[in-house]
Amino acid sequence: MGVIRLVDIEKVYSGDLIETPVLNQVQLSLKRNEFTAVVGASGSGKSTLLSLVSTLDQPTSGQVFFDDVNVAGLKGNRLADFRFERIGMVFQHFHLLPTLTALENVMSPFFGRRTKVDYKKKAAQLLAQLGLAAKQNSLPSQLSGGEQQRVAIARALVNEPEWLLADEPTGNLDSRNAQLFYDLLHQLKREFGCGIVVVTHDMQLAQKADRLIEIRDGRVVEDRSLHADGGSSC
Ligand SMILES: Nc1ncnc2c1ncn2[C@@H]1O[C@H](COP(=O)(O)OP(=O)(O)OP(=O)(O)O)[C@@H](O)[C@H]1O
Ligand SMILES: [Mg+2]
Repeated sequence: MGVIRLVDIEKVYSGDLIETPVLNQVQLSLKRNEFTAVVGASGSGKSTLLSLVSTLDQPTSGQVFFDDVNVAGLKGNRLADFRFERIGMVFQHFHLLPTLTALENVMSPFFGRRTKVDYKKKAAQLLAQLGLAAKQNSLPSQLSGGEQQRVAIARALVNEPEWLLADEPTGNLDSRNAQLFYDLLHQLKREFGCGIVVVTHDMQLAQKADRLIEIRDGRVVEDRSLHADGGSSC
């Protein structure tokens, strides 16, 4: 199947004095065989939407389904296991652990887990695949922005997730590296078969996706396929 469904989503951030309504009546089906870009102005609710899709936060009302699983029913270790099995997340500022090497950062999702997977080998393979074989023992501070980003992508993929979710992943890259990154996402979609959802404010890059969703003031105002053959390659 491979569908994430957002049903009647509302999100309100509640502070001591004020309530901030952010998402309003959002209905979406994200498909694993589509590379989806989510665009919108600053403050429109893109990161909030991605935090709900990634199960890192919960909606005020409405449901998020991964295929038939309502994620609201998952708590504690079961939620952590679900995330580990299904989701890879790339954060805007990468969030690499500064005292770990590139290889250790990529291995880190497995730390503290009982597993038979040879995750060290897998981490090394991914780094090599992303052109970083020679940098696996470097600390993040010794890597360029684009290299750190590729380490963050390898870390997001090491658990072979069904979905790769990325929030403004090209924010720190120059336009050439941003283009290369999008080409890499298409390659990952083909090779790993994972669904890709990218939040970006860069319309030019978003046009390279299969599907474009625009959020304005917490609502989906546009949702369209960009290429006639979108999704067929997965
Ligand atoms: N934890 C929070 N508490 C209160 N308000 C919040 C919180 N997180 C986000 N907001 C508010 O929700 C709105 C949407 O924020 P969000 O981060 O989803 O926007 P965005 O589209 O990702 O913006 P940007 O392009 O600047 O990253 C903003 O008005 C923001 O101030
Ligand atoms: Mg944001």
